[in-house]
Amino acid sequence: MNTKIKSQPTIFVIFGGTGDLNARKLAPALYNLYLEGWLPEQFALIGTGRSKLTDKEFEERMLKDINEFSRSGEVKEDKWPGFGPNIHYQAADVQDAKTYKEFAKRIQQLEKDWKTPANVIYYLAVAPNFFPIIAENLAKAGLTADADRARIVIEKPFGHDLESARELNKLLNGIYEDKQLYLIDHYLGKETVQNIMAFRFANAIMEPLWNRNAIEHVQISVTEQLGVGDRLGYYDGSGALRDMIQNHLLQLLCIVAMEPPVNFTAEEVRDRKVDVLRAMRRFTPEAVRDNTVRGQYGAGWIEGKQVPGYREEAEQQGANSQSNTETFAAIKFFVDNWRWQGVPFYLRTGKRLHRSASVITIQFKDVPHFIFPTETAETRRQNRLIINIQPEMSIRLQVQAKRPGVDMVLNTVDMVFDYKGTYVAQAPEAYETLLLDVMLGDQTLFMRGDQVEEAWDLVMPILNAWENRVSQNFPNYSADSWGPESAEALVAKDGYHWFTIPLETKK
Ligand code: BG6
Repeated sequence: MNTKIKSQPTIFVIFGGTGDLNARKLAPALYNLYLEGWLPEQFALIGTGRSKLTDKEFEERMLKDINEFSRSGEVKEDKWPGFGPNIHYQAADVQDAKTYKEFAKRIQQLEKDWKTPANVIYYLAVAPNFFPIIAENLAKAGLTADADRARIVIEKPFGHDLESARELNKLLNGIYEDKQLYLIDHYLGKETVQNIMAFRFANAIMEPLWNRNAIEHVQISVTEQLGVGDRLGYYDGSGALRDMIQNHLLQLLCIVAMEPPVNFTAEEVRDRKVDVLRAMRRFTPEAVRDNTVRGQYGAGWIEGKQVPGYREEAEQQGANSQSNTETFAAIKFFVDNWRWQGVPFYLRTGKRLHRSASVITIQFKDVPHFIFPTETAETRRQNRLIINIQPEMSIRLQVQAKRPGVDMVLNTVDMVFDYKGTYVAQAPEAYETLLLDVMLGDQTLFMRGDQVEEAWDLVMPILNAWENRVSQNFPNYSADSWGPESAEALVAKDGYHWFTIPLETKK
């Protein structure tokens, strides 16, 4: 949550500097922060990786990546000299104590040149099995001893299950102070996701309606058109529940369901979100059977192009050609507290679906008595609040209105707040917001260890039941569909259907 204050002199050390996340997200985000004047004068990015590269070679690589992936387009020639020379590289073997001595030297040198101490942010953009070793080695080398200056950012997945998440938390809490830890869930940095809190807590009209008295049910859909692609190696051991629901979708649910925090500070906001997770109904094996659906995509066609099924991709990439990993999940949750008792929250996510969009729909209860003759309603719908997170960025309130004319005909219309129509400025990418927040020492939009554990605790019975299922009957949905038929049945048995996803799409 930036406040137009520039951070202290900062050194970003990116473990996994030659990897995909840095290329696509981190380097472009830092460059855009630089363009918009958010970076401090004294700033350095030190990429690390196993390859042997010079500073210059790494800088060129970053330039190429930023040209390809930055939202602001290709780098303008006159802008690079202010950013590029701040990029450094150090080949690193993360297991080797020598590596960390080299870091210490680099950091000291930069501080000497700048004539001031710097904040140092260690970003772990590496496979999760390296988190413990890097975290421990940084501490052993004394690089993180100053808790006011050294911060550590950890990408997901944070643990593979409850037990491994607990272990990792224990290890981190043993060597770092809370204020040094930044666990990323990039959905929390999205502009439209932050706006849900503004919408709920900066407007008086929402609160009286925001509960079981007025709301009938909530749907949270994060659908993706892309398949798993070359991330299959990671994904096959994960699946949609671990990859999306345990983190991104449950975080969206928390923001919708949380009580108003006393103030907008990191601990308050995160406490209220943990409250939601704690109140969520735990699953018995029967409840898993009745309230969850898993799916895996088969082959098909997407926009005129033939695409392989998940198991074919697995075979091509040397993984299990009979893989039972789910690429789709739909789950009905309940939040057992005074505000939400009896209101179902339906969450669904999947890959290779018909369209890519993230949407939260809140369906309100029907009017207690409809006074108009039935035939006046050309379309008749209960009120819905549709929060479009991406690619469309908007909030729509669907209401019934009289169509102009001498007769009384009603239909459904949208009252819309649309980012494109309201603001000229392009919204920043989630990573820009989050990286700036780490620099400023603001943890509001980051996960806390207890939140992660609570979310694992909630999904563990589902994971266990799914893992023990003998027959999976996969693939059970084809590319370009909306997922398995049983996902429709999940909501249909309560008398609902999944709401249509808006037309604007994201590739
Ligand atoms: C990541 C998941 O965390 O989020 C991916 O690992 C998924 O599988 C991605 O595609 C979706 O993020 P976004 O910002 O594109 O909606």
